[in-house]
Amino acid sequence: MKPTIFSGVQPSGIPTIGNYIGAMRGFAQLQDDYDATYCIVNQHAITVPQDPETLRQMTRQLAALYIALGIDPKKSTIFVQSDVPAHTQAAWIIMCNTGIGELERMTQYKDKSSKQESVGAGLLVYPPLMVADIVLYDAQFVPVGDDQKQHIELARDFVDRFNARYGEDTLVKPEGIFPKAGGRVMSLQDPTSKMSKSDANPKSYISMLDDPKVITKKIKGAVTDSLGIVQYDKINQPAIANLLEMYSVLTDESIESIVARYEGQGYGNFKGDLAEVVVSVLEPIQKRYEELLAGDELDKILEEGAIKASEVANRTLARMEKAIGL
Ligand code: ADP
Ligand code: NA
Repeated sequence: MKPTIFSGVQPSGIPTIGNYIGAMRGFAQLQDDYDATYCIVNQHAITVPQDPETLRQMTRQLAALYIALGIDPKKSTIFVQSDVPAHTQAAWIIMCNTGIGELERMTQYKDKSSKQESVGAGLLVYPPLMVADIVLYDAQFVPVGDDQKQHIELARDFVDRFNARYGEDTLVKPEGIFPKAGGRVMSLQDPTSKMSKSDANPKSYISMLDDPKVITKKIKGAVTDSLGIVQYDKINQPAIANLLEMYSVLTDESIESIVARYEGQGYGNFKGDLAEVVVSVLEPIQKRYEELLAGDELDKILEEGAIKASEVANRTLARMEKAIGL
C-alpha cells in the first residue's frame, strides 16, 4: 500500500504563482508515489465573507485547475469539501477537544481577524476543520506551503491528545511536506507579506490564469530597491531575492547560476526573462483549463470524487464517534 497524502486549496480567489510553487506544483508530482486526496476547501473559504455566485464559480475553476496542472482523477481523489458532510461532523468533535487558547495563538487567525471588521467564529475554528480534512483520510503526509506549519503542528498535537485519551489507533498522525525552496512566495508589491490570492491589490500577485501581457506587466512593476544589482540578499534586497527564488524554483536552476548570468545588468532584463519563465509554465496549464471548463467531464469527476472521498471519510468518522461514545 502507498503512503497517504491529503491537501487542499481554498476557492477564495484564483490560485497564485505562490500557491502553485508552494503547494499545487507538487500535487501532480506526488500522485504516483502516494495515495493522494486533493480537496477544494470551500468551507474554509467562507470563514471570511464571499459572494455566493463568485464562490460557486471559483470552486469549479479551482477543480479545473487541479486537473489542468496534472492531477489525474484516475490516480487521485479530487472533490469539493462541502460535498462530504463528514468534514464538518468530525470538525465538531475536534473543536470539543481543542482549547480556545490554542486557536487564539494561531498567527493566521491573528492576521486574518485583524483585517475583518467583525470576526466570524469560523475564522477561529478554521484549524479544527483543517484537522478534520487531514485525519479523515488517514493522511500520513500533507504537502503545504510554509504558512501552514503552525496548523500542521496543531493537527499533530491534536492527534496525540485524542489518541492518548480515546485509544492509540483512532487517528493517524500527519506530517507536513514543505517545499525545499519557494515555501513562502512574497507579494510583488510588499516583500514583507505573503503573496495571497485574497489580496485586495491584484498587482501584488500573479494569478495562475493571468495572460502573458498581464504577467509581464506585474513582474516588471514589482517593487524592487534602488541598488540595481541582481544578487541574493534576503535582508537588504528581499524583493529581488523573492523574484530570484521564483525563477530558480520554476527552472530548477541554482540561484548562484542565475545571479552570475545577470552580473553587471540592472533589473529590467532579469524581470523580462522571469516573466517569460512564468508564462511558459502557466500557458499549457491555462490551455487545458479552458478545455476543461468548456467540456462536461468536470462535474462527473467531482461527483465521483465525492463518493470515493465519502467512503473513506465516513469510515474514519465512525471510528472517532465510536471512540468517544457517540
Ligand atoms: P491563500 O493564502 O493564497 O488564500 P490557501 O490558504 O488556499 O492560499 O493555501 C493553499 C496552499 O497554498 C497552502 O498549502 C498554502 O500553504 C500555500 N500557499 C499559500 N500562499 C503561499 C505563498 N505565498 N507561497 C507559498 N505557498 C503558499
Ligand atoms: Na493560506
